[in-house]
Amino acid sequence: MLERLTDPRNAAIAKPNAHALALLDRVLARDPAPVICEVGVGIGATTVELCRKLDNRGRILLFDFEDRLTDLGTDLVGLGFTNVELHANTRRRYDNYNWSLTTLLQARRQSGDDPALFDFVFLDGGHAFHHDAPAAMLLKELLKPGGLMLLDDYDWSFAVSPTMNPQKNPDIRLDYTEAQIETPHVRLICDLFFDHDPAYRKVEIGYRVPFEHRRAYQKAPFDD
Ligand SMILES: C[S@@+](CC[C@H](N)C(=O)[O-])C[C@H]1O[C@@H](n2cnc3c(N)ncnc32)[C@H](O)[C@@H]1O
Repeated sequence: MLERLTDPRNAAIAKPNAHALALLDRVLARDPAPVICEVGVGIGATTVELCRKLDNRGRILLFDFEDRLTDLGTDLVGLGFTNVELHANTRRRYDNYNWSLTTLLQARRQSGDDPALFDFVFLDGGHAFHHDAPAAMLLKELLKPGGLMLLDDYDWSFAVSPTMNPQKNPDIRLDYTEAQIETPHVRLICDLFFDHDPAYRKVEIGYRVPFEHRRAYQKAPFDD
């Protein structure tokens, strides 16, 4: 998988997410061996840099399709990373990372473990409400007090997607209404589940309204 990072055709998805790396630095300053997760790994651009920063300290849990994770997991082991845990799902229509997150949360509850596991969560999956609203709810439960969560593609919608917009891909209208095509789903999720929840506070990561591409939140207690 990681060999794809140097293929010029993948230039748009080969850059690590700078906000995820900066937030991990902030977490590492507090806890040198944190538990973190990335939901949606792409071709591993951010994953490999998160692993380098962790340097085998703590744990990193990855969620994506099983074919992607098997490939990436092999590469990460080959680079000497031993703290990577793969939580894969199939490509069946109604399977996705929510089921893996559900299984994880349920297992922790049933074993009597504290459900709060993660110091840092990077949610960067399908960016569609039916995937990411349940994911956000589950991840809120799995985030430790004081933990940080980054949601990518805050301003993305099917309408602005170069490949999925209705002009390029008219069949999108068979799956989504006009409102669902026009609405940025991650922004809606942030508005519904984070912005009005007193247990969460937005973390400034440098964007100015209305040009926000990502949002980060801290779960109480807050740093300041
Ligand atoms: C934008 S990419 C992630 C990019 C990556 N976080 C990075 O920084 O390079 C989105 C990822 O979400 C995954 N994804 C989308 N829908 C999914 C689903 N239903 N189940 C599992 N993974 C899914 C895709 O396979 C893809 O790897």
